[in-house]
Amino acid sequence: MDASVLLALRDPAGIPFYPVVFQALYILTWALHAAFVLLALGSMGLSIYGTFKQKDDSHWKILTPHLIQTGKLSISILIVLGVAPLLFTQVIYDPNWYVANTLSGMWVFIFIYTLLVGYILYYWYYYANKAKEGGGKLVGIVSFLVLVFAGILMHNFAVTSIMPNEWMNMYAPNGVVDTSGLTFNMDIPRLVFLVSLAIPVVGIFLQNYSRFLSTREDFSEDFVKYCAILGTKIGAVGLVISAVTFIIWMIEVGYLMNPLTIATIIGVLILLYMVYTNVNSYITTGVLVVVALLISSIRELIRFDIMTGLGYNIYDYPVNLELPSITMFLLTFVIMGFIGVAYLLTMAWKVGKTQGVFDGSKDKAVTRLGNYTLFIMSIWMVIYFGWGMVTLFKNIL
Ligand code: HEM
Repeated sequence: MDASVLLALRDPAGIPFYPVVFQALYILTWALHAAFVLLALGSMGLSIYGTFKQKDDSHWKILTPHLIQTGKLSISILIVLGVAPLLFTQVIYDPNWYVANTLSGMWVFIFIYTLLVGYILYYWYYYANKAKEGGGKLVGIVSFLVLVFAGILMHNFAVTSIMPNEWMNMYAPNGVVDTSGLTFNMDIPRLVFLVSLAIPVVGIFLQNYSRFLSTREDFSEDFVKYCAILGTKIGAVGLVISAVTFIIWMIEVGYLMNPLTIATIIGVLILLYMVYTNVNSYITTGVLVVVALLISSIRELIRFDIMTGLGYNIYDYPVNLELPSITMFLLTFVIMGFIGVAYLLTMAWKVGKTQGVFDGSKDKAVTRLGNYTLFIMSIWMVIYFGWGMVTLFKNIL
């Protein structure tokens, strides 16, 4: 692939801020997206196992609906969090993203419907299980497979986007233009590794779940202990599987001796020790976040190296500094985002820790955070729309 073709596909307007910032935000937000993809797939998969045990096992009677609920919420969060890396990737790697979306255009349409059908089926599964213990097995399995398929499609877009040398062959195999939009590429070790991470993630989730419930009197000690042991088993086995598949992927792409790879392997070993001993699963989760960021960085490094090798370096992307919009974005992201999320998390934490009904209006911290969030959102709307109107009228009048 000639670098001039790639460079010609860039946005002629340039980008509004330094590329390294978009790159860092891509790494961060993709890790967040992946965290909820893995929690969704892991809790969903385990809940299906639970539906087979739920009728006769008192522990699974409690655990199964909670896992179903976790998967249901995680899907909605993963969808919201998927948008962020999508935006950042199309800012700095627009040639890759748009070419992949054109070559696999039909799969992009199919992806949307796959997600819709998969999530609707999940709700069906949720209600069927709520109505009858052990209910919704088949629909749960189908929903799980449909959502895994959505992940495989995402994987196709990511892999196709980093194959610029092959694009011409995909576009016109043997010189005949193929407009079907059905281009499909897979890198099996990469996919298997990424999806396998769902196993340790649900294991660590179970350890957290058990730790969180340990202060509640309405959950028996026996149940809390059972979940912790189950989490340790699933987490440890899952980490070994993920470590092996990660090494196979790294050998395949030739990054085994890269410092990032070595740091990831060390991180996984530390995680294995922490999961096995289960002293404090909240700290284990902190280490998991670091490992997730390392994995996200490796994905980016692979793409960055492929692209610089072809003469496309994101750091050379023309920058057309636009301070007002970047300031607005960062203030929205940091101030509104953080306070809003802190409000929701504090409330969720306190609801879960309270026996009986939690009244947020009687809680000082929740009320204060709620008021701040409302106040900031109101100011944000005034500034956002006011500013938009001023810019619009300045341009057209
Ligand atoms: C159940 C639904 C989904 C699953 C299971 C899923 C899973 C995945 C997986 C496994 C990857 C990594 C692929 C790879 O690197 O090989 C990925 C990447 C990604 N996903 Fe998702 N995803 C889902 C939905 C979404 C949605 C709804 C969005 C956007 C709104 C999204 C945005 C992204 C983006 C931007 C990437 C990175 C692509 C790249 O680097 O080229 N995903 N997803």
